[in-house]
Amino acid sequence: MSQTLPPVLALDGPSGAGKGTIGQLCAVKFGWHYLDSGAIYRGLGWLADSEGVSSNDVAGLVSLADSMSLVCHVCETDSATIEINGQMVTDQLRTDEAGQLASQIAPIPEVRAALLKMQQRCRKAPGLVADGRDMGTTVFPDAPFKVFLTASAEIRAQRRYDQLKAKGMSVNLARLLESIQARDVRDSSRDASPLKPAEDALVLDTSDLSIDEVVARILTLVN
Ligand code: C5P
Repeated sequence: MSQTLPPVLALDGPSGAGKGTIGQLCAVKFGWHYLDSGAIYRGLGWLADSEGVSSNDVAGLVSLADSMSLVCHVCETDSATIEINGQMVTDQLRTDEAGQLASQIAPIPEVRAALLKMQQRCRKAPGLVADGRDMGTTVFPDAPFKVFLTASAEIRAQRRYDQLKAKGMSVNLARLLESIQARDVRDSSRDASPLKPAEDALVLDTSDLSIDEVVARILTLVN
């Protein structure tokens, strides 16, 4: 089956490991499509919050997921822009609160099932770079290229801090570290598609690697 489907580079890992930056650079270099699956979970969390649907209203969340339309535009020099149901929500989705909301609804199996097809539909020629937590294990288990990026929680918190600061957002490093650690525990300990490397993934610790070094290693793998 994988021979006839366009190739996928599944890029998984915890928050702040560099998946977004590296995934977008790879997508532009290969001329492939890019799926930011975290934006889908963040988008649904944000939509539920704005529509007053509670994070334990499973039927309400599934109905929102079924009708949600999400468009992600990738650009090499900046982070992707995201549109939900026709509204540009890039900045709203990048906040730490949006990440927390996403990880509260992400453990619900019905929500994951409702979002699965939306993600799989992104597999289009000439190829797809898919960034998330379960790209290599659940969404694209037959992906020919799987990379699991990781880094220490302290380094990931510092990166997220620098990113949000550069966007002019007010952030606190200690609180970001706490939030990243809480999200790691929630994402790795859930039953539905927990955060873990696929058995056939290349695991790369990016703590001491530059963005260019990580991209170069991935290019070697894919080429
Ligand atoms: O990657 P990002 O930080 O944007 O993801 C936000 C949250 O969405 C994660 O902490 C996780 O709970 C959830 N998520 C997920 N599966 C994915 C992508 C994101 O559960 N494939």
